Amino acid sequence: MGEAERRSPPAVGEAHLESMAAEVRAGLSKPQKQLPSKYLYDEIGSALFEVISLLSEYGLTRADTRLLRRHAGDMVDSLAAPVVVAELGSGSGRKTRWLLEVLARRQPVTYYPIDISGSALRHAELELGAIDAVSVQGFERQYLDGLLEVAARRQPGEHLLVLFLGSTIGNFDRPAGEEFLREVRRILEPGDALLLATDLEKPLPQLLLAYDDPLGVTAAFNLNLLARLNRELATDFNLSHFRHFVRYDERERRIEMHVVSQVAQTVRIPRAGLTVEFRQGETIWTESSHKYNCAEVAAMASRTGFRCQAQWVDHEWPFAQNLFIAA
Ligand code: AVI
Repeated sequence: MGEAERRSPPAVGEAHLESMAAEVRAGLSKPQKQLPSKYLYDEIGSALFEVISLLSEYGLTRADTRLLRRHAGDMVDSLAAPVVVAELGSGSGRKTRWLLEVLARRQPVTYYPIDISGSALRHAELELGAIDAVSVQGFERQYLDGLLEVAARRQPGEHLLVLFLGSTIGNFDRPAGEEFLREVRRILEPGDALLLATDLEKPLPQLLLAYDDPLGVTAAFNLNLLARLNRELATDFNLSHFRHFVRYDERERRIEMHVVSQVAQTVRIPRAGLTVEFRQGETIWTESSHKYNCAEVAAMASRTGFRCQAQWVDHEWPFAQNLFIAA
């Protein structure tokens, strides 16, 4: 699976449907059927993800927030003012509050959330624009397009701090993730910073429960991808004939989410001019979530034009915030 974006456009415009149909056709024509994970995040999928982040089995979001709350001061200490903050895939911007509050105590800060969901941006503006000495300007763009715009607005002497939180990097293939970091680096200037959050390797039973919770929220999140295709592309996936399935690939060190066909069946995708046959037990691979260790993240920094200046690790739920400085 290639580049992953957290959210897909809310508008069901003609161009969006065309490219969605083309991607679905390409993915379902592969020997291992696949669907792009970005399509997990329509309005229902995003709401289900919010619920996932509250589950006791899924400690990732809480670890991310805990590290920011505890160490925000140390994280920004070494950054020379004035700092402009750009966040890739801001979501609601909730976790960012801790960093912005510390920065704004030193001097006024501009915060640019970048997200392709307009509603997520409005939420971030409301939530974070109320902090004293913080001004918020959202960009409804793909990550790199938004970052280019932020960089174009940079005033002499300003330093950029880019946030890529939530371990969204884990939803990229490892090579695609590194290429993405290289592209981010190309937009930055030496001395600019990237705070990158990475979920770390942990015991297998803990990982499997995090992605296959007993309440079935992650299963609903995964199956909603098929429901979304039924809603938007008029496909005829019968949801009761598919099950949520997760596996851990030891070699790639990643959790894979799949939906598995319970019976031999045929699914029609009229917009893609495609009829897809499923064998009983055959799967569609819907998402990968790569797990890291601290040493490899530091090595990734040097391979992509950064130096890893510091790492903060949560021991309750192994997870790291990594501060990269553009070399
Ligand atoms: C958004 N991303 C970091 C989540 C993850 O853990 O890979 C998405 C997710 N998929 C299933 N549960 C959560």
